[in-house]
Amino acid sequence: MEQERSMFGSRAGFILAAVGSAIGLGNIWRFPAVAYENGGGAFFLPYLFALLTAGIPLLILEFTIGHKYRGSSPLAFARINKNAEWLGWWQVAVSFVIATYYSVIIAWALWYTFFSFNLSWGSDTTTFLVGDFLEVADAGVFGGIVPGILVALAVVWMIVLGILIGGVKKGIEKANKIMIPLLVVLFLIIVVRALTLEGAATGLNAFFQPEWSQLLNGKVWIAAYGQIFFSLSIGFAIMITYSSYLPKKSDITNNAFITGFSNSGFELLAGIGVFSALGFMAVQQNIPVSEVVSSGVILAFAVFPQIINEFPVANELFGILFFGSLVLAGFTSLISIVETFVAGVQEKFNVSRTKSVLIGGGIASLISILYATRGGLNFLDTVDYFINNFGVAFAGLVEVILVAWVFKQLDPLKSYADSVSDIKLGAWWKICLSIITPIVLGYMMFDNIRQNIAGPYGDYPQAFINTYGWTVAVGAIILGFIFAYMKRWKSGMLETPKAVKDKEGA
Ligand code: ALA
Repeated sequence: MEQERSMFGSRAGFILAAVGSAIGLGNIWRFPAVAYENGGGAFFLPYLFALLTAGIPLLILEFTIGHKYRGSSPLAFARINKNAEWLGWWQVAVSFVIATYYSVIIAWALWYTFFSFNLSWGSDTTTFLVGDFLEVADAGVFGGIVPGILVALAVVWMIVLGILIGGVKKGIEKANKIMIPLLVVLFLIIVVRALTLEGAATGLNAFFQPEWSQLLNGKVWIAAYGQIFFSLSIGFAIMITYSSYLPKKSDITNNAFITGFSNSGFELLAGIGVFSALGFMAVQQNIPVSEVVSSGVILAFAVFPQIINEFPVANELFGILFFGSLVLAGFTSLISIVETFVAGVQEKFNVSRTKSVLIGGGIASLISILYATRGGLNFLDTVDYFINNFGVAFAGLVEVILVAWVFKQLDPLKSYADSVSDIKLGAWWKICLSIITPIVLGYMMFDNIRQNIAGPYGDYPQAFINTYGWTVAVGAIILGFIFAYMKRWKSGMLETPKAVKDKEGA
């Protein structure tokens, strides 16, 4: 039994939403440092390999599954095979966990956009970040809520849930149509400005300087795959959900290529912008770029404010542009992350969209308060690491193994994608998904687990890692099984959509 399904209003609307999901905090603050730490210019080889053999093929796969089975990730997998439903819920659980901390980073960026107006972070930006702003406590200590962060967090959730209540076309599509063009304009201004700073070339040299020997290091390949999965929003239910809202006659393969290359293009742009700015700072302080480079929280919220302080003119404006971009990129991704569980709960428990947004979003927002405590940064760092390595990438691996080998779906999915797309899929697509990706990702998992057993991540106490790292990663899998076990689908819901049956002549 098919229900009226919400749809994107146009192809451009869908592409903007998919690109909006892909381009996020991962592109701006994660990619530049990951690339630099993993061989600089030489990183582009594993990065491109991961993009072409896993990223884009998986994106095509997820677009096809969503479009063919017209459901959120749990419903789509349940329609492929009842025994695959848990995988959909596992991916949804991974997204749920990501939403709880992703929202907090956007809350920080909101504050920093505000701080930019009078550079209120002062001259010692690290002390300001860690001491005055986050009031960081030791690992495992909650240490009470930081009120300012809580307020910004509430604003973030109200905006995201408000957009989601608006629905696919009037909420998600409209928000992306405004935010993505604005983001591109703001970001281009930043990059052009950064490129014209004194020292930009020094930064870019450091960024692109290839360290070929790094290609022999397994860690570098693992980093490339991890980056591609998180950045393209694949393996955590997002792209399946979004493509289920594509009108029936829509191209799939071409849309996937456009999304994949736009995301990588933006990522490269971010790398160029960030390293030009780092080069500027290194030259100002007369130190090598290697001494100013850092990643994640410190790069965005301590190093960038410092760079902004040293700007020759219009420091405030540059700050507003940079943190404003982080906020926009973050919002368009968070919307897609939360939509995965909104759609999943709505379909399985047959509740209205508003109810599902309020329940799903409400629980996620309450849990996110954990990261608005003084111990928040340590929780965030650990949960982010574990859910990326043993959530996103692992769920992606299980997805290709189940779809390709257990349920043998690649041929029917390929014919489906070809029947609606301009570009026809060659044998390369099947080879990438059934052979190359499982081997490389399988090795990545094995090596990752081995390294994490050998020593706790980030020198945190083992008990802390067990509670907030492993428990969260394994908990997402268990949640997947629990939700799949509940028998709540409306009768007939798990049948293959009628349009597909007609097409396949079943
Ligand atoms: N794809 C999103 C990002 O890069 C989640 O941040």
